[in-house]
Amino acid sequence: MTQIAILGFGNIGSGVAEMLTRNAAYIQEAAGDDIAVKYVLDKRDLTGSGYEDRAVKSMQEILCDPSVSIVCEMMGGTTPAFEYSLAALKAGKSVVTSNKAVVAKHGAELLQAAKENGVHYLYEASVGGGIPILHAFDDSLKGCRIDRIDGILNGTTNYILTRMHDCGSSFEDALDDAKRLGYAEADPTADVSGADTCRKICILAAVAWGKLVDSDTVYCEGITEMTDEHNAFAASCGGALKLVATAMQSNGAPSLSVSPCVVMSENPLASVKGVFNAVKVAAGDMGDLMFYGMGAGKFPTAGAVISDILAILRRGDETDSYRFFTNNTCELSAYGETKYAYCVKVKADRKTIDAMPFTYTLLKEENEDLYLLVEDMTKKELDALLCGMTVSMCMRAII
Ligand code: HSE
Repeated sequence: MTQIAILGFGNIGSGVAEMLTRNAAYIQEAAGDDIAVKYVLDKRDLTGSGYEDRAVKSMQEILCDPSVSIVCEMMGGTTPAFEYSLAALKAGKSVVTSNKAVVAKHGAELLQAAKENGVHYLYEASVGGGIPILHAFDDSLKGCRIDRIDGILNGTTNYILTRMHDCGSSFEDALDDAKRLGYAEADPTADVSGADTCRKICILAAVAWGKLVDSDTVYCEGITEMTDEHNAFAASCGGALKLVATAMQSNGAPSLSVSPCVVMSENPLASVKGVFNAVKVAAGDMGDLMFYGMGAGKFPTAGAVISDILAILRRGDETDSYRFFTNNTCELSAYGETKYAYCVKVKADRKTIDAMPFTYTLLKEENEDLYLLVEDMTKKELDALLCGMTVSMCMRAII
């Protein structure tokens, strides 16, 4: 019998407990063992939850119980989630988490602590909800060079943009729905500001390249300024408006960014709607791959937590280097100096544009406006070339 403790009995924590009960037979078969929830730590009163008999208020009680081998941290926020995770690892217990804030900030230190104590620190549920993207990165794609990652990594913002576009909902109404459906964070500022997406792309890049970038140093724009006009612009360019995180190697240094983008319709990310997330990976000789699934919500995320519990049981003492990374020590390539594609709406004549030193596709001509797809340019170069012209829209494009 494997005994686990759950830290945080909110949406995800209660989902893990419920799925362990509901799917006990499958899980027993897959794990070769029964998994039982021995403790639930939460500051709320759990009367009526069915887990009141296992409710504890002190982490010490869990740390001192040698029968607990896995701690599932689903608290949210970094304090005390980080301190509790570190203490659990030091006490020789593996930790599984859905907490992207902790992984993005303290992941390297926690992985080191896990290594030193011969246990696991796994975090599949911290990125992409139910999509098994980290398992794929560290198992199936282990032998590939990962060149570039583009992801729609936040269910709430993708849900909001989809509702605004498809149903004409207001930003506020769509956000209220996302909260009601359990997609948004307790404080949805992290969703709409892009901070949540930013943490997730840092985690993906860390698993891909072994170095964790400080998310505070990444260029990050959210969707708070997005209006119907941006949606209409994306449609006029032949694409869809999405919040996209990109990580790639540029000029020998990692380059990460998060911004609203026009995803051209040929790219499969353009058709990712609602709470769904997707990660498109350019994986060297293996070519392009796309991972797709529910990016938020109680059961998809709880399912990812359970998949990590099973990974721990499968791997046993084999704890070395699995999804391991250290802190990044090299400079990031600056956003303004990284080459991307851009969609631009500019008042200009064709002759002037033809004379510019860039490769472009004319997407549409309307009145005096040209809609251009400009490729392989830094934002600095593009701004310098279009300086003095009337540019009414300019957004990063994903081709
Ligand atoms: N608030 C997050 C989202 C939850 O909407 O994607 C899953 O990380």
